This record gives sequence, C-alpha cells and structure tokens, in this order.
Amino acid sequence: MAIAADVEIGEGTKIHHPDLVNLYGCKIGKNCNIGAFVEIGKGVVIGDGCRIGAHSFIPEGVTIEDNVFIGPAVVFCNDYYPPSFGKHWGHTVVKQGASIGANCTICPGVVIGNGMMIGAGAVVTKSINNHVDCLAYGHPARPKGSSPMAILDLCKFNQVIRTCEYTCEGTCPYYPTLNPV
Ligand SMILES: CC(C)(COP(=O)(O)OP(=O)(O)OC[C@H]1O[C@@H](n2cnc3c(N)ncnc32)[C@H](O)[C@@H]1OP(=O)(O)O)[C@@H](O)C(=O)NCCC(=O)NCCS
Repeated sequence: MAIAADVEIGEGTKIHHPDLVNLYGCKIGKNCNIGAFVEIGKGVVIGDGCRIGAHSFIPEGVTIEDNVFIGPAVVFCNDYYPPSFGKHWGHTVVKQGASIGANCTICPGVVIGNGMMIGAGAVVTKSINNHVDCLAYGHPARPKGSSPMAILDLCKFNQVIRTCEYTCEGTCPYYPTLNPV
C-alpha cells in the first residue's frame, strides 16, 4: 500500500500511517486526518478539515466537502449494478459538516446533506438531506429526528449551525459558552 505520486495533499493534513493506506489520483484538502488502511480512489475530492476513519473505502465518484467526519470502516459504493465496469456509476456527495458513523455503507449516487449525522451501521440507499431531522440511521437509513447529544457532538467538532430545534444559533442551552460561527 502507498500514496501515489499523483495524490494532492493539503497543508496540515496528517496521514498517520503512510505505508498502510492506498491513495491514488485523489485530492485531499488541508488539515485532514486520514487513518490506517484507508483507500481513496481516482478523482475523489476531499475538502478541508475532514477526518477519515481507519479501514474506510472511498472509490471514484465520491466528493466529500469540508469538515466531514467519516467513522471507521465506512464503505462507499459507486457501482449501481456490479460489475458494470464504469457504465452505471453514481456520484455521491457528502456535504459540509456531515458525520457518518462507524461501519456504514453508502450506496451510489446519494447526497448526504449539510450537517447530517448518520448513525453507526446504517445503509444509506437514498439521499438524506432533511433540515429538521438531522439524524438518520438503520437499514435502510431514514431520518430519526434530532439527537441532542449527536448535534452537540457535531457542534463541538466543527461548530456546524443547522436549521433544527437544537441549532446553536444564539446561545446553546447545553453549552452556553459555545460560540456560534
Ligand atoms: C445514532 C446515534 C447518534 C443515536 O444516539 P442517541 O440519539 O443518543 O440514541 P439512543 O442511544 O437514545 O437510541 C435511541 C434508539 O435508537 C436506537 N439506535 C441508536 N443508534 C442506532 C443505530 N446506529 N442503528 C440502529 N438503531 C439505533 C437505539 O437502540 C434506541 O432504540 P430503542 O428506543 O428501541 O431503545 C448513535 O447511536 C450512533 O450511532 N452514533 C454513532 C457512533 C459512531 O459511529 N461513532 C464513530 C466514531 S467511533
């Protein structure tokens, strides 16, 4: 395993075990953390401030925006009907500030909206971009309301401001000292 010469890596990004990753043809932004045994394929773009957990697989056709958390062993698929050898690939986007729990499977062509949290072990088969229910989990993943603790964790991580009942606009009732962006 290795980091191919064509990989662009932004300033401040840490790849903790460079010999234990497989990165090729991709672009990784600034100040990211990439765990061991991660594979990131050709054409993938990862924004700034992202964390990619160990054993995650991110193939061609995936775009990850800024400040996204990808837990360990998250598998993105890009082929709707394998093996179609590139004929039926989907483009998947994980929008800014979203968080994907451990061991999730993300099916091809979905959009995971700004600040969404996907619970551990979910299978995301359709786009999830609900501005009220910002938590989703299950097989298939469906919106499950807003978990206060989950939202707080997101806020602590990247200060996401969401349009939901637990938004941190104004003063956060749980963490009054948290400064909204
Ligand atoms: C989704 C999540 C945020 C929910 O947290 P929460 O709001 O505190 O939820 P609760 O623990 O109160 O559980 C509420 C219900 O949802 C169920 N539930 C919680 N998480 C679930 C999940 N990932 N998949 C399926 N069901 C889940 C619980 O069993 C419980 O069901 P019940 O009411 O029948 O007992 C959390 O369980 C989770 O998956 N976190 C991600 C952890 C992770 O992957 N971290 C990555 C770094 S290691």
